[in-house]
Amino acid sequence: VSPGLPRASWRTAATLSVAAVAVLVGVEATARSGDGHAVVAAIAHDPVPDDLAASRREVAALIAHAARLGAKVIVAPELTALGELRPGSPATAGERIPGPATEFFGAQARQHAVWLSISLLERSDSDERFVTAVLLGPDGGIRRHSRKVLVRQESDAGAIPGSFRAVVDSIDAGGTRIGLASVDDINVAVPRLTQRGARVVLLNADAGAEPAASARRLQELAAATRSVLVVSGPDCDKVPCVVNAYGAVATRHRRAEGSVHVASVPRMASWVIDSRTGLPSTVPVPSIDTGNEALAELGRRLFTDRKLSSTGTVACVTCHDPARGFTNGRPLGVGVHGRVTKRNVPSLLNVAFKPLLQWDGYASSIENFVKYPFSGPTEMDFHYLDQVVPYVRSRSDYVQVLRDNLRADPIEFEHIAAALAAYHRTLLSGNSPFDRYRYGGESAALPPAAIRGLEAFTGRAGCARCHTIDDEYALFTDFQYHDLGVGYDGGTQRYRDIGLGGISTNDFAGQFLTPSLRNVALTAPYMHDGSVATLEEVLDLYARGQASDAQRPGRPPVPLSADDRRDLIAFLESLTGDQRYDAEGRALPGRATRSASRQIEGRK
Ligand code: HEC
Ligand code: HEC
Repeated sequence: VSPGLPRASWRTAATLSVAAVAVLVGVEATARSGDGHAVVAAIAHDPVPDDLAASRREVAALIAHAARLGAKVIVAPELTALGELRPGSPATAGERIPGPATEFFGAQARQHAVWLSISLLERSDSDERFVTAVLLGPDGGIRRHSRKVLVRQESDAGAIPGSFRAVVDSIDAGGTRIGLASVDDINVAVPRLTQRGARVVLLNADAGAEPAASARRLQELAAATRSVLVVSGPDCDKVPCVVNAYGAVATRHRRAEGSVHVASVPRMASWVIDSRTGLPSTVPVPSIDTGNEALAELGRRLFTDRKLSSTGTVACVTCHDPARGFTNGRPLGVGVHGRVTKRNVPSLLNVAFKPLLQWDGYASSIENFVKYPFSGPTEMDFHYLDQVVPYVRSRSDYVQVLRDNLRADPIEFEHIAAALAAYHRTLLSGNSPFDRYRYGGESAALPPAAIRGLEAFTGRAGCARCHTIDDEYALFTDFQYHDLGVGYDGGTQRYRDIGLGGISTNDFAGQFLTPSLRNVALTAPYMHDGSVATLEEVLDLYARGQASDAQRPGRPPVPLSADDRRDLIAFLESLTGDQRYDAEGRALPGRATRSASRQIEGRK
C-alpha cells in the first residue's frame, strides 16, 4: 500500500486487499501471489456550466487530491475540459489529439507522476468526431488512445460504435496491467481487455451517457472477469466508481469541487513470468486460473508433436523454428504435402504482448488463434475437434497434465489451446544490446554505428512513428494498421492480399499490422508476403517510396544515405534478444535477466 494513503483509508484498503488475496490463494494453489498493490482513483465532478477555466481548476484540484491519497492511476472525467457533448454544443467542440486538453491533462499527469485516463471529443483532420479515451503516462505523454465511439455529427444526440477492429489492448502501467475503454462499451470491452490480461480497467464516462452502469452490473462484470473496474463521472456520487471482483468498493473523499474515490487493489500477477530488460514488466496473462510451468511445458510438447498433422510430419515447430526466432527462413510457410501458406511466418517471440494476431489482426488471442494452424489445409490439416482432441485424449501423459492443472475432464480443445498459449507466453525476448543500452544503462552495449542508427530510426528516417520505442520498454509496434503498398500490383491496381480489407471493408485493403522488429536479424525474409529478402532491401523499399494512383495514396520516399543505411542495419541487428532455444523449443539458460516480480517489489 502506498505510504501516501491516510490511516483510515489505509485500513480499509488493507482489509480489502487481504480479503482479495485470501480469495485468490483459495482459488489458485499454484499462483505466486501478486506483489504489492496499486492505488487507483476515480474522480466525480460536475462541470461548472459555461466556464471551462473553472472546470479545469476544479478537476486539477481533484487530481491533486487523489495523488495526495496515494493514487498512481487516476480516471478523470472528460469533457468537462471542453464543454459537453450534446446537441447544440459549440461547433468548435473537439480537438485534434494531442491538443490543448491533452496538454492540460498531460501537465497534470507529469506534475503528480500518475497515470491519468481521460476521454475527449476528438476531431480528426477530415473533421470526423470521436470520443477518444486517452491514457497519459506519468511523464505526461500519450501511451494509448482508442477511439471507442464515433459521433456522426453534433445534432446526432447519439453516438455509434467506432471503427472496425479498433485495437483493444492492455498496457503495462508500472507493474499493473491496465486497460482503457469508454463506459458505453463495458459489456464488450471489459471481457476483451481482461482477456488481454488487464487486471484494472479504466472506464471513461462520456458526458450524456446513461448513468455509468448500474452498481450491480459493474460488480457482476468485475466478478466475472476478476478485474477491478474504475469509472469516473458525475454519477460516482450515486454508484460505486471503483469495484473489484470481491464486492469491495472504494472509499469516498468529498471535496468542495467534487469527490475522489480511492481503492487499493492487489496487483494479482498470478503467474509471474520473468520479463526482460526492454520488455514491459508485466506479461498479459488472461486467466488467473491458467498458466503455470507444467502447462507451458505441455504446450511445448504439443508444439513439437508431429502426430498432430494429417501426414505425421508437420508440427508447429516445422514452420516456427526456434533457431530462427520461430520463423522458417522462407518467404512462406510450408506445411503438409509441401503446401505453402498464403503469408510469411511471423516470429513467435514476444507474441504474448500482441493484442491482435496474424498479419491482418484476424485473431484476438493466442487461445482463439491456435485452432487455425491445426485445421488449415496448408499447415497441419488435422481438424482441431475431430482429430486433435481425440489424439490428445489418447495420450495419458498429456491427459494427466491437463487434469492436474486445469481440472479438465473430459479434455476439450480449449484446454489444449490453454496449454499452447501458456507456452507461447514464455517466449519472451529482450535484453538485446539495444535494450541494455537504452534501458539497462550500459552505454557501451551498442557500437557507435548502431547508436547513429537509433538516432536515424527515431529521428529523420521516421521509423519509430510506427515501430514504437516507449520510455520504459519497446515493442517496436504501434499496434496499428498501415498500408506500405507491399504486394500492390500497379498494373491491375489491386493488392494480391488485401489484409485488413479481407476482414472488414475494402476501404482498408492493403493494410497490415506493424510488425515488431525485435529479433528481425533472425527472421528474413520480410513483410506479410515474404517478398523482401534482406534488411537492405527493406530499406530500399522505404527509400523508394510508393507512387500514388487512383486507388491508393502512395508513400513518400525516405531519403537515406549510404551511411544511414549502414547505421540503420547495425541498429536493427542490435535488436536480437539473448534468449536461446533448442530445436524442441526449450529455453536454454540465458544471461542474467530481470524478473517481473523483483521489479515490482523494487517499485513499492
Ligand atoms: C505451415 C507453416 C505453419 C505451421 C505448421 C504453423 N504455423 Fe503458425 N503461422 C504460420 C503463418 C504463415 C502465420 C501467419 C498467418 C497470417 O498472418 O495469416 C502464422 C502465425 C502464427 C501465430 C500468430 C503470430 C503473430 O505474431 O501474429 C501464432 C501464435 C502461431 N502461428 C502459432 C502456431 C502454432 C501454435 C502452430 C501449431 C499448432 C503453428 N503456428 C503452426 C505458419 C505456420
Ligand atoms: C507508417 C508506418 C511505418 C513506418 C513509418 C515504418 N514502418 Fe516498417 N513496417 C510497417 C508495416 C505496416 C510493416 C509490414 C508491412 C507489410 O507486411 O505489408 C513494416 C515492416 C517492416 C519490416 C519487416 C519486418 C518483418 O518482420 O517482416 C522492417 C524490417 C521494417 N518495417 C523496418 C522499418 C524501418 C527501418 C523504417 C524506417 C525507415 C520503418 N520500418 C518505417 C510500418 C511502418
